[in-house]
Amino acid sequence: MRRNFYITTYGCQMNQYDAGIVKEILKSAGYSPVADENEADIILLLTCSVRKHAENRALGRLMSMKRKKDGQRIFGVLGCMAQNYKEELISHYGADLVVGPDGYQHLPSLLANLLTTQPKMPQVWVGLNQECYDGIYPKAESSSLVTGFVAIMRGCNNFCSYCIVPYVRGQERSKSPEQITREIEILTQSGVKTITLVGQNVLAYHYNGMDFGGLLKEVEKIPGVEWLRFITAHPKDFSKEVITTLAGIKKFCPCIHLPLQSGSNRILALMNRRYTKEEYLERIELARQYIPEVVFTTDIMVGFPTETEDDFNQTKEMLEKIRFDFAYMFQYSPRPQTQALTIKPEVDFATGRRRLAKLIALQSQITKENNQKLIGQELEVMVEKHQTDQSLARTKSNKVVVLDRLEPIGAILKVKIIGMRGWTLVGAKEP
Ligand code: 5AD
Ligand code: SF4
Repeated sequence: MRRNFYITTYGCQMNQYDAGIVKEILKSAGYSPVADENEADIILLLTCSVRKHAENRALGRLMSMKRKKDGQRIFGVLGCMAQNYKEELISHYGADLVVGPDGYQHLPSLLANLLTTQPKMPQVWVGLNQECYDGIYPKAESSSLVTGFVAIMRGCNNFCSYCIVPYVRGQERSKSPEQITREIEILTQSGVKTITLVGQNVLAYHYNGMDFGGLLKEVEKIPGVEWLRFITAHPKDFSKEVITTLAGIKKFCPCIHLPLQSGSNRILALMNRRYTKEEYLERIELARQYIPEVVFTTDIMVGFPTETEDDFNQTKEMLEKIRFDFAYMFQYSPRPQTQALTIKPEVDFATGRRRLAKLIALQSQITKENNQKLIGQELEVMVEKHQTDQSLARTKSNKVVVLDRLEPIGAILKVKIIGMRGWTLVGAKEP
């Protein structure tokens, strides 16, 4: 039986983490991952549904691979799009295998069915059953051997009106501290030093009386964990209690991704975000007071239904006021099942495009100015990987620093920021 597989991952850190889950499940069933797609008998696309654009990329890829198909090869669509499109991926796009985010345990039996039927009988598993993948310990799936992701929860109950995630990933549930600790121990034993805890809203973590703060305190104690990050935090749960807890966690890298989405209270209410821009600002200021070196990054969306020029200007004002170190910026994309589909009128596409371009120009300037301020400073960095004869390192504030010589991967060094090359900081090791 042909048993080589190759996974292409789209979307967020949760999907990157899930790629590790899928790999472990398939390896245990006797399948082997290959580094070259051309050698794979089974091609798996681990997909994202958050915007139409992300879906189109994966569909385009599937269609182009199908055209070159050798008949024997198996094409699987996994993840959020599998849950969103279900059988349609087979009937309209020619996939052989469709498995949603809760179905990866079924991959071995689904693949066995596929491999033993002639002609191949397409297989679908799209239940939502609160799966947590306890007992599965993924290897580090990120681009560096010293950084690893660990999901601490799955699913989402927030129902932001634009967002498909609660429909494709199901209800929010937290994983047990024991499972999380074990996963981290296995990662650190393999050399991982920076752990990023991931979840749709990590601040909502709760398991038998343990909250997110309690979990951080446990994780900090695990031998080998040097730096600790998390993503994503919902502003509505970013309380004074959370802020003071974070201030006491020594290994915590003070870079917080706190999606703002919009600077207009009217739009925030329509988005069902459950905070105002004033509350958001207040929390940022409080965090800056308790954790002076903290930096913030964010997600912003433009072109949400009914967004006026005035709403948009308020978003711009928030960017100017807060001066995020980085922002992911998106144009609203209507998603099936979501509440926002009923909010009218929509913003026309060209207006959304124009607003997005303006916002990107503004934030790029701010990001650059924030980086320029670091020139001349001495910062602690961790070396993450080598690129020809350079080292790529990262600051605690999550900025990449290029070093013009090879330093040991995983080393934590003091460097002086000596300039910028394009967008990237350049550092030199202190003598
Ligand atoms: N359209 C555009 N962007 C979206 N996001 C989530 N849903 C949509 C959508 N329907 C963005 C949000 C979120 C990030 C992961 O993706 O900004 O924080
Ligand atoms: Fe991640 Fe959301 Fe995309 Fe799913 S839809 S991959 S949860 S960003």
